[in-house]
Amino acid sequence: MIAGPRQPMRFAACGPLRGVAAVPGDKSISHRALIIASVADGRSSIAGLSDGADLLSTAGALRALGASIAQNGKEWIVDGVGPAGLRSPEGVLDMGNSGTSARLLMGLVASHPIEASFTGDASLRTRPMDRVIGPLRRMGALVNAEPGDRLPLTLRGAARPQPVRHETRIASAQVKSALLLAALNTPGETAVAEAVPTRNHTELMLRHFGAPVRIDLHGTGVRVGITGPISVEPRQVRILGDFSAAAFLLVAALIVPGSEVRVEALVLNPMRTGLFTLLRRMGADLSMEVSGEMQGEPIGAVTARHSRLVGGSFFTGPSAPMLIASAIDEFPIFFIAAAFASGGTEVTGLSELRVKESDRISAMAAGLRAIGANVEERGDGLAIAGSGGDALAGGATIDPGLDHRVAMAFAVAGLHCREPVTIADMSPVRTSFPGFARALAEIGANPEEIGSC
Ligand code: S3P
Repeated sequence: MIAGPRQPMRFAACGPLRGVAAVPGDKSISHRALIIASVADGRSSIAGLSDGADLLSTAGALRALGASIAQNGKEWIVDGVGPAGLRSPEGVLDMGNSGTSARLLMGLVASHPIEASFTGDASLRTRPMDRVIGPLRRMGALVNAEPGDRLPLTLRGAARPQPVRHETRIASAQVKSALLLAALNTPGETAVAEAVPTRNHTELMLRHFGAPVRIDLHGTGVRVGITGPISVEPRQVRILGDFSAAAFLLVAALIVPGSEVRVEALVLNPMRTGLFTLLRRMGADLSMEVSGEMQGEPIGAVTARHSRLVGGSFFTGPSAPMLIASAIDEFPIFFIAAAFASGGTEVTGLSELRVKESDRISAMAAGLRAIGANVEERGDGLAIAGSGGDALAGGATIDPGLDHRVAMAFAVAGLHCREPVTIADMSPVRTSFPGFARALAEIGANPEEIGSC
């Protein structure tokens, strides 16, 4: 994706936030739907795909690999290439800001006798790829990467891919998914054992497309196996809203006095809703109504009312790693909630946050300090002293770098600060939630575009 102009915006204190909001289709599920439909044997349709730019990176790469992908109003039509039908793309595949696109597509390519080069934006080029390259090399892929196994890299898929058994060292749905996608075109059983279970959208979407996926309990976690080669059947898919996008609107309602906001038509997979659990433990007035299932994913609505949040140490005991995995993308906005709570909140075990779209531990610590919060940065977490529900000072300009979630987190913080918070560039938000500022305005905030800052 080509970077556009910077988009500075100002977020000021507002009256109560009220209303019903909708958010874009789940980003993780959208990637899976596009990728799996692209190797299906025939035409699939996808409704509700995320409108985030990350999906354009995935769609562009899949087209270059041979799939035909078209948008017809709100529906995406995908003509898959069928088993073993991928071809070598002509140009470099630009994954923009999207780690999910890069890692999942590297897995897809790894078991086809084709060659593809991958690159990304300045953020993605710093992110570790060894976690996925290592097991893909064991499957027979040849990878030529920058020092430290980072992008840009060229991957030559295996002509005779070998199945592997992989125990994930780091809880990562992207690594698991890369191997499961490689497994589709690999004879024999490829299995991934996860000590800490991660989001299972790939497994559920593969099953929806008629692919048998074996899931067994394994020690403290799960073992997921696919016996290839598998021919994937075309399907219709409908994707509901992204809890990770809703999280920003829900926390906004929790911290702005008098608010009540409901977000409807959400995917509520328990492997994604760890933030809900955490906020409830902080005393948040939050309710979840699960109303059914779609492609095996629980769906429903969440309502948040302004709450007196109470901080604490929520990441101790044997369930901590699972809770962290199920909230992994929500820590920027969780830290904002903690900054408005009574008492202190301590979070450890979050070293993965240092290799997301930015180093989210140091970015959040610096930003929180700039808006007047009392925070201490630790190697793998933060300690935050909350304001007791009072407005923070604000009055600072936050540069989110290329991190959409850091930008949205501090935008929300600005809604309960004495002086407005300026986000030096809101354009990264396009990767996951292009309508974020409009959604905030629709429930009563006053986001303001400014010429410069
Ligand atoms: C994702 C998995 C997570 C998450 C990312 C999306 C996915 O990354 O942080 O935003 O769609 O599989 P990791 O696999 O690196 O934990």
